[in-house]
Amino acid sequence: SSDDFIVAVDGPAGAGKGTVAKRLATAYGLAHLESGLLYRAAGLLSLRRGIPFDQDGRVAQLCETITLDDLAYPELRSDQAAQAASCISVHPSVRAALLDLQRRFAHFPPDGCRGTIIDGRDIGTVVCPEAPLKFFVDARVDVRAKRRHQEFVGKEMGMPFEEVLEDMKQRDKRDRERAEAPLVAAHDAVVVDTSDMTIDQAVDAVATHVDAFLRRRAEKMGSAQ
Ligand code: CDP
Ligand code: CDP
Repeated sequence: SSDDFIVAVDGPAGAGKGTVAKRLATAYGLAHLESGLLYRAAGLLSLRRGIPFDQDGRVAQLCETITLDDLAYPELRSDQAAQAASCISVHPSVRAALLDLQRRFAHFPPDGCRGTIIDGRDIGTVVCPEAPLKFFVDARVDVRAKRRHQEFVGKEMGMPFEEVLEDMKQRDKRDRERAEAPLVAAHDAVVVDTSDMTIDQAVDAVATHVDAFLRRRAEKMGSAQ
C-alpha cells in the first residue's frame, strides 16, 4: 500500500545515490538493494560466457538465474562491469527478467527491517511507481566523474580521469536515450543536486523528507484508531 516504507533513489553514476541510500538504510532500519549490481552481474556474466550484448534472449535467460547472493563480488564495481551493464540494460526482455526480484525485495523486507530502499535508474518510474518516497539524486558530470575516479584510485583500479569521464558520458547517454525505462526523474520525485554538497549534506537533504513522511504516516495511523 502507499503506507509501505519504500524509498526509491534514482540518478546517474557518481551522483551519490548509493552512498545516500546506504546511510539512510542504516539510519532508518531499511533493507538496501543496489539495483545496478543486478545489471552489472548480468553484464559481467554475459562477457564471461561470450554472449554478445545484442543477444537479448540469451542475456535475459542469464538474468533469470541471478539472485541477491550474486551481488557481493568486488569485480562488479569495475568500469568494465558498468559499461557491460549499460549495454545489456537497454533490452526490454533483460529488464523484464530482473523486475520480479526487485519488486519482491521492495515489498517484502527481511525480518527486522522497517522497509526498503532501492537505488538505480528506474525505481521510482518503473519498478516501484507506488513508492511514497522518491528521490532523484543528480550532479554535474565533471563532479561525478571526479568522484568515481577518486574511488577507483582508492581501490587501485587506476584509470585516467579522462577515460572515466568519457565512459560516464557514454553511459549517461545510453541510459537517458533508451526507449525502455530511461533515466529520468519521476514526476513526483524530489530532485537533489549534490554537486556542491558533502555526503552529510546530501543525506540530511533526503532525510528531511523521510522524517516528514514518517510523521505524516504516524498521524494518519493515530487518527485511524
Ligand atoms: O553506481 P553507478 O551509478 O555507476 O552504476 P549502477 O547503478 O551500478 O548501474 C550500472 C548500469 O546499470 C547503469 O549505467 C544502467 O545502465 C544500468 N541500470 C539500469 O538500467 N537500471 C537500474 N535500475 C540500475 C542500473
Ligand atoms: O551510487 P552513485 O553512483 O550515484 O554514487 P556513489 O557511489 O554513492 O558515490 C560516488 C562517490 O562519490 C563515493 O565515493 C562518494 O563517497 C562520493 N560522494 C561525495 O564525495 N560527495 C557527495 N555529495 C556524494 C558522493
